[in-house]
Amino acid sequence: MFAKFTARFVLFLVVSSGNVVVRSATAAGDGDGQFAYQGFAAANLTMDGLAAVTSSGLLALTNATYQAKAHAFHPAPLRFLGESSAGAVVARSFSTCFVFAIVSGYDGLSDHGLAFVAAPTANLSAANAGQYLGLLNATNGTASGAILAVELDTIMNPEFRDISSNHVGLDVNSLVSLQARPAGYYGDDDDGAFRDLRLNSRKPMQVWVDYDGQAKQLNVTLSPMQVPKPKKPLLSQAIDLSTAMADEMYVGFSSATGVVFTHHYVLGWSFSFDGPAPPLDLSKLPRLPRFGPKPRSKALDIVLPLATALLVAAALAAVFFLVRRRRRFAEVREDWEDEFGPHRFAYRDLFHATDGFKERNLLGVGGFGRVYRGVLPDSNLEIAVKRVSHDSRQGIKEFVAEVVSIGRLRHRNLVQLLGYCRRKDELLLVYDYMVNGSLDKYLHERNGTTLYWAERFSIIKGVASGLLYLHEDWEQVVIHRDIKASNVLLDGTMNGRLGDFGLAKLYDHGTDPQTTHVVGTMGYLAPELVRTGKATPLTDVFAFGVFLLEVACGRRPIDHHTDEHKKRAAVVLVDWVLEHHRSGSIIGAVDPRLAAAGEFDAEEAALVLRLGLMCSHPLPGARPDMRKAVQYLERGGGRPTPDLSPSYVSYRVMATMQSEGFDSYVVSEAGRSVTSIGTVSGASSMTILSQGR
Ligand SMILES: *[C@@H]1O[C@H](CO)[C@@H](O)[C@H](O)[C@H]1NC(C)=O
Ligand SMILES: *[C@@H]1O[C@H](CO)[C@@H](O)[C@H](O)[C@H]1NC(C)=O
Ligand SMILES: *[C@@H]1O[C@H](CO)[C@@H](O)[C@H](O)[C@H]1NC(C)=O
Ligand SMILES: *[C@@H]1O[C@H](CO)[C@@H](O)[C@H](O)[C@H]1NC(C)=O
Ligand SMILES: *[C@@H]1O[C@H](CO)[C@@H](O)[C@H](O)[C@H]1NC(C)=O
Ligand SMILES: *[C@@H]1O[C@H](CO)[C@@H](O)[C@H](O)[C@H]1NC(C)=O
Repeated sequence: MFAKFTARFVLFLVVSSGNVVVRSATAAGDGDGQFAYQGFAAANLTMDGLAAVTSSGLLALTNATYQAKAHAFHPAPLRFLGESSAGAVVARSFSTCFVFAIVSGYDGLSDHGLAFVAAPTANLSAANAGQYLGLLNATNGTASGAILAVELDTIMNPEFRDISSNHVGLDVNSLVSLQARPAGYYGDDDDGAFRDLRLNSRKPMQVWVDYDGQAKQLNVTLSPMQVPKPKKPLLSQAIDLSTAMADEMYVGFSSATGVVFTHHYVLGWSFSFDGPAPPLDLSKLPRLPRFGPKPRSKALDIVLPLATALLVAAALAAVFFLVRRRRRFAEVREDWEDEFGPHRFAYRDLFHATDGFKERNLLGVGGFGRVYRGVLPDSNLEIAVKRVSHDSRQGIKEFVAEVVSIGRLRHRNLVQLLGYCRRKDELLLVYDYMVNGSLDKYLHERNGTTLYWAERFSIIKGVASGLLYLHEDWEQVVIHRDIKASNVLLDGTMNGRLGDFGLAKLYDHGTDPQTTHVVGTMGYLAPELVRTGKATPLTDVFAFGVFLLEVACGRRPIDHHTDEHKKRAAVVLVDWVLEHHRSGSIIGAVDPRLAAAGEFDAEEAALVLRLGLMCSHPLPGARPDMRKAVQYLERGGGRPTPDLSPSYVSYRVMATMQSEGFDSYVVSEAGRSVTSIGTVSGASSMTILSQGR
């Protein structure tokens, strides 16, 4: 549809001959008709239609108004005709030059433009807009005389036999050009090659129109603003303007808009008769406005895509980090947890507290997960965070409920459980941090510092009292299920605290505990627990008994060594102490490091060993409950020391029982109760999880 419109940028000229006498003495115009506008800020142009001079001095012929005209004329008419010495009427030689720019909202597509006008009248109100460029209407010529135009046309209009959508044409009285050429210029170098120019490239370009009145020849030359006037004109036409022009003519620009949003600008203009037009000082011309897609600099061509790429990259990175952050801190939270709100920790807090669960904050790797040290950002509270993996949703509700219940336990010999956090496939338990770590390392690390008897005894009494609280003194019965030296932690005052309630079971007083998976640590499992899968306070007492022996003897419950036949063998601690007891020297079982240190209370040590044997009795009925155990340890109220005679059953029974649950245990010769480990190696510290019945 745009083909219907012709965008032409027209220079109207009224031409006269050179070297002649101006016919009328009352010639209008300023002086000899020479002028130069370096920008139009100070100019007094006669304008109509859309034409306006911007504050920067640009002549803006058109703006964003559709189907409108614009005209701007030098205010006074000029005398174009003269008399030759022979008295004939001739057109004077003249020269004009101007700089224009066509700036369209679309690259490569522009509209009917702005015009510089010279005609017998400055009143072109009868002309049409659009493809008529504000010059003419469907009628050729004007009422007051002939017009001459140089069109800079950016739309090919078949109606006017346009050669292309980017051409320069010479028009006399009609929009059908006398001669037209594609826009461009001839280089001044040797080959003089033709170079294309795009009129609506948004770049300023310079145009020269020169008429030689003697030679009767009119030249039009075009070049980019920075290129000096090419020697060879773009268009050269033999024409006698003396018959075509009126004596007095207005010169200026004309332009018109169609439907494409386009600005037509004139930046500077000069005119002269009988000599070249004064050259324009290009550096003094006004700049094209930033508005719209003005001619872009090379730098922008590089910077813009780069900036865009950077912006896109930054946006992507931001999204990536946000998503990663979301993922990283994602938690699982369900409605039923609302009631546990205060016990729930935000994963983000735990993450920051532990420096992102860095390796250097790792306190230890337990059977069920890794434990990290951390400091809560807000309260500066030191915590230990245990990450427990759980892969099914099954039982998680009960588990969390238990965790929260356990969180309500308060005892000076229990490690405080502060709360929890849930993530996909993972549960995080948050405990008070215990400065001195687990008892385990003091007992079994040969190079580490050992503990004096007094310290050991106080820890034992502490753990006993904590366990009594769990079994009897709290609102529910809590079975710890994993009592062992490595689960006893030491606070700043070397006070022993029972920790890691990861396996604890709760049930109401007076009810029967449920059968569950057999969990616990090999060596601390009561025989009936392995058989029935039922964890009771007495199965805890069994483990406590083993723990007593562990502390007093400084040995693991099942001690692995290589015997004289180079076979891996294991000594069961309980049996080993029992042998000492039978041979009448139970004190001989005490940790040799205590003996070396010289000072320990032999009576207390014997008490602990005896109580240990009693508590780890294979028959649950023979074990004391925790209250009794505590009383023994306190030695108050005239309690007798635990009596192990006479019917302490051989541990072979126990070993046999354990072998029912675990094939790896093989009982050796009768009476000695030494077990050897078959397939399971390093099992003494191995936590097992096997299906009970
Ligand atoms: C501008 O031109 C008009 C018409 O020629 C004239 O009346 C007016 O005085 C001029 N103004 C200036 C400032 O030159
Ligand atoms: C275009 O110019 C005319 C005349 O100066 C003015 O009345 C009109 O408001 C302008 N339109 C726009 C869109 O700038
Ligand atoms: C221009 O000419 C028309 C007639 O063609 C006339 O009506 C109008 O008043 C003129 N305008 C001026 C400014 O002289
Ligand atoms: C106008 O002039 C052109 C060329 O001089 C010619 O081809 C065309 O037919 C003319 N149109 C009218 C309406 O006279
Ligand atoms: C066309 O222009 C001429 C002269 O400029 C005028 O006399 C005529 O009325 C115009 N025709 C129309 C339809 O405007
Ligand atoms: C026009 O161009 C021709 C060369 O094509 C040149 O000889 C002539 O002098 C030029 N005339 C004017 C008025 O510049």
